[in-house]
Formats: sequence, C-alpha cells, structure tokens
Amino acid sequence: MRLLDRIFNPGTRELLTRAGIAPGWHVADIGCGIGLNAIWMAERVGPSGSATGVDMSAEQVAMARANAEAAGVKNAVFRQGMATETGLPRGGFDLVYCRFLLCHLTDPVAALKEMSSLLKPGGVLACEDFIASTITTYPETRAYVRLGEIYPIMDAKRGVDSNAGAKLHRYFRAAGFDAPEIRMEQPAFLRGEEKRFWGLTLREAIPAIVEAGVARREDLEEICEEIGEIAEDETILLALTTVVQAWARKD
Ligand SMILES: C[S@@+](CC[C@H](N)C(=O)[O-])C[C@H]1O[C@@H](n2cnc3c(N)ncnc32)[C@H](O)[C@@H]1O
Repeated sequence: MRLLDRIFNPGTRELLTRAGIAPGWHVADIGCGIGLNAIWMAERVGPSGSATGVDMSAEQVAMARANAEAAGVKNAVFRQGMATETGLPRGGFDLVYCRFLLCHLTDPVAALKEMSSLLKPGGVLACEDFIASTITTYPETRAYVRLGEIYPIMDAKRGVDSNAGAKLHRYFRAAGFDAPEIRMEQPAFLRGEEKRFWGLTLREAIPAIVEAGVARREDLEEICEEIGEIAEDETILLALTTVVQAWARKD
C-alpha cells in the first residue's frame, strides 16, 4: 500500500489540486485504504474543513486512524462502510474521491451514484482507476504475459473489471455526469522498488487465485520470482499500468 502511494500520489495530488481542493472544504475518500490520501486532503482543507475516509476493511480503517494520529492530523475521520452504502450525510461534501476502488466492484456505477448523492450542488467527483491490460514490459517477458492472462480470468470469475480505468468516462455518464474531464498517464520504470510492484500485488493475491482455480500456486510463485529477476534487470522497461483520472462537477 505504501509503495502504491509512492508511485501514484504525485498524480493524485495534481488531480485533487485541479479539482480545486481548498481550505474549508469537506471531502470524502471512498475505498480509502490506509488513509494516506485522506490525511493529505485533511491537511489541504485545514482545520475549518474535514476529510472522511470510508473502507469496507476494518483492518484498513484501523491503519488509517493510526496513520492520522501519527501524522497529528485531527480533522480526518475514518469509518468502515461499503462504497454503495457509505452511511455518510447526503449533500454534505465539496469533493468525493476514489482511487483503485471501482476495479473491485461488481456495480461501479452504483458506487458513483452513491458518491454523487454525497456531493453538494457544484461539488466535484474525482476518480482514478487503472487499465490492467496495459501492464507490459519491453521487451516482452513470460511473467508479464502470464499476468496479463490471469487478470481477465479472475475478472470473469469475480464479476469485476480490472480495465475499469478505460470505462471511467462511461461510468460517469451513467451516474449522471454528462461532461467529465479525463486525463491518463502510464508510469514506467527501469529500476527501483517500483519494479517489484506487481510481484508484491500478485503474492498477496495468490490464495484467491489458487482458490478460484485460475492458476497453480507453483506457477504463481514462479511468476513472482521472474518479476523479481526482471526488477533487477535494467535493460527491461516495465510499463506499470495506464492510470485514468476522471472528474466532473455536480449540477
Ligand atoms: C487497491 S485498494 C486502494 C486503496 C486506496 N484508495 C489507495 O489508492 O491507496 C482498494 C481499497 O478498496 C477497498 N474496497 C474494496 N471494495 C470495497 C467496497 N465495496 N466498499 C468499500 N471499500 C472497498 C479495499 O478494502 C481497499 O482498501
């Protein structure tokens, strides 16, 4: 999670700045994970504003609270809840944000409708998600080709879409935002911890992938090992994933 933050936070902060985040705003981060974005937003909106993080995982919420306390941030609150039923006050927020959440949901539009209902008139909805099919190396490597094969099978089994980023503009329209703005970028690396990102992500997902019968544990362990070797090889470029950002103002 911390590596994810390190890689993607600069782009996220640009997005939130473009969205106009300002002192006194009340903002929400849905699917907030360990809360680092919500904490950053709390600092930006200052003591007259607030940041509320929601996550379905009690463990993530506990870590987010601990991170806020460690950072000495008092205007960030975290609560356990579902993206489609946050329990937050309707019409109470100037900005509602989510990152890498919609790719986990069977009904991303329902979540966006919920987020829309939390916004004041004129409030901003801002979302980011990735396009898993863009993860690649140059030159091509067996490990990343295999990873590219596993994603769509897992998606089909779970009824989710790891290419959610490519559909953000359509999800926005379906949720009632007719003219979203869009931006996309693809971080790429030759070296560094960042090149281990998909190995770490895959290792965490091994039990779920094996249980779903999509691949054997030994196969997955081998992919993780190869990703580690690729991380050490500066002649191989890793194109991490395309990230799409969409934002729009509520009428
Ligand atoms: C990949 S993490 C992203 C965390 C954070 N937004 C970030 O970018 O660092 C996805 C998060 O969404 C949460 N999540 C997944 N499905 C959810 C749902 N239906 N309702 C609320 N949270 C959910 C997970 O618990 C996890 O913390």
